[in-house]
Amino acid sequence: MNRIAVIQKLLDKIHGKFYVEIGVDKGESFLPIQINKKVGVDPQPKFNDPRIYTMTSDDFFKSYPQKLPDQKIDVCFIDGMHTHAQALQDFNHAFEHLSEKGFIVMHDCSPPLAAAADPANSHYPEKGWMWCGDVWKAIVHLRSTRDDLHIFVLNADYGIGVITRGKPENRLQFTAQEIQQMTYADLSNNRKEFLNLKNPDFFASFLQGIS
Ligand SMILES: C[S@@+](CC[C@H](N)C(=O)[O-])C[C@H]1O[C@@H](n2cnc3c(N)ncnc32)[C@H](O)[C@@H]1O
Repeated sequence: MNRIAVIQKLLDKIHGKFYVEIGVDKGESFLPIQINKKVGVDPQPKFNDPRIYTMTSDDFFKSYPQKLPDQKIDVCFIDGMHTHAQALQDFNHAFEHLSEKGFIVMHDCSPPLAAAADPANSHYPEKGWMWCGDVWKAIVHLRSTRDDLHIFVLNADYGIGVITRGKPENRLQFTAQEIQQMTYADLSNNRKEFLNLKNPDFFASFLQGIS
């Protein structure tokens, strides 16, 4: 089970027509996704493709209504700048354009060790392939503030966050300030609770439950 399989299965299940990927890098996840229409966004993509917008996600979403008028997103994969604030901002922007049954998939929600969770606002290439940053705090934030979202993280591929409209299975009660102050040790000691962490097997039954 990896991010690509999760995205493809969600798109297939909801008969998705439009896929957006924030942060494409070499296209390892963008290129294999099978769908009629997809676009990627990255200020420094490592491949040439007319479907890629070479810009930051903030700039992309600022001009979304002009670029893609009335285009609803069926799955948005958020895998750009790996900071709490940017992951949350990407989520909020993507959610504005999400189709009724759409999904937001967030990568790197469960860093396996403290070094991978370094929250420094550095650029991905300097941090190396395992860098997850503090994207996990975006999950804790959404699970603490939103009562209209069903959120879980699959324990695979550095943590695959799956977010859709619906009733939360359970919620957290942290304030924004408490979340800011959390450390990797807090995540490590409470990973299952903070992330609503699920074994990869859970995904098959989750898919079956989607009508
Ligand atoms: C982890 S890589 C993406 C990997 C790819 N999604 C995959 O699964 O193979 C992160 C990418 O995000 C890009 N990035 C950094 N800041 C960004 C931003 N503000 N908006 C969009 N992409 C950004 C980087 O240039 C980098 O290519």
